[in-house]
Amino acid sequence: MRAVAQAQPNIALVKYWGKQNLADNLPAVGSLSITLDSLWTRMEVEFSSELRNDRLLIGGHHDDEMLARVSGCLDQVVGTDRDRAIIQSETNFPIAAGLASSASAFAALVMAADAACGKSHELLSLARMAGRASGSAARSFYGGFVELRVDGRRIDTVQLLKDDEWPLHVVVAITAETAKPLGSTEAMIRSAESSPFYSSWVERQDEDLGAAREAVGERDFAKLASVAEHNCLKMHSVMWTSRPSIVYWNRATLSCMQTVRELQNSGVPVFFTIDAGPQVKAVCLPAAADQVAAALQETSGVSRVLQSNLGHGARLVASA
Ligand code: PMV
Repeated sequence: MRAVAQAQPNIALVKYWGKQNLADNLPAVGSLSITLDSLWTRMEVEFSSELRNDRLLIGGHHDDEMLARVSGCLDQVVGTDRDRAIIQSETNFPIAAGLASSASAFAALVMAADAACGKSHELLSLARMAGRASGSAARSFYGGFVELRVDGRRIDTVQLLKDDEWPLHVVVAITAETAKPLGSTEAMIRSAESSPFYSSWVERQDEDLGAAREAVGERDFAKLASVAEHNCLKMHSVMWTSRPSIVYWNRATLSCMQTVRELQNSGVPVFFTIDAGPQVKAVCLPAAADQVAAALQETSGVSRVLQSNLGHGARLVASA
């Protein structure tokens, strides 16, 4: 009746932005991501017939804000007629600041809940259930390079390469430690309703996915860099041109992008990507990791850098 699972965040190189269907949280577009190794979320789920309500503790503190979303996710995995649970989450990186903490959290939650109630759903079913809570969470069930496809009214997930089949390194430049001002769901709805660029974003996504898939297949870093930066800047253009505009960046975000450009100009194999927050993720070949980390650490406004190789998908840590 108790299980603990761990999942790592993933970083999208071709982004999910927009919902086809709000009720099922079905993405409007496919996406392609890399799963990280050294950042993690651990979720412990313990069901008990003695509890009257679910209880959620994040980093040891009761959290009622996220409770409804977490309870809804447990209902999906176990069914609504279930014992209540104590859910405890620990994470080793800042949450809700554009570091994909919801991806690792809901992947770990679904995997732990499934084991704790003895359901043993197959991996794709778990990914679909987590995806209903957080679109990007479906990708954290797989390691390495992962593509999420939207197939009619469902999602499909494909592992394109394992983490050791093309080792890349990620340096995350932290430019703000506070929670983001606007959640991604609200921001996506606003983008779809008001940005004049939204329809072209959706229409052109398959082109970017095709180019990224090819780049991954050929281990072509320059090709992957080009499509990933382009796709990221398109997503942010959609946000910027929404009404009211959605700007997650701060001054240091732009300074970090400049740092990455300077590194590129001196021949360093690196590119940036940015999600729904002000942090900059620099993806590079492993040999360039120290140089990229040092340059970002010295960039004005960066409080610290986190580093990670690529890692595995969600896994069970304990179950009883
Ligand atoms: O999974 P959500 O609802 O937190 O949305 C994730 C959106 C982005 O991180 C901006 C892009 C992505 O594909 O991860």
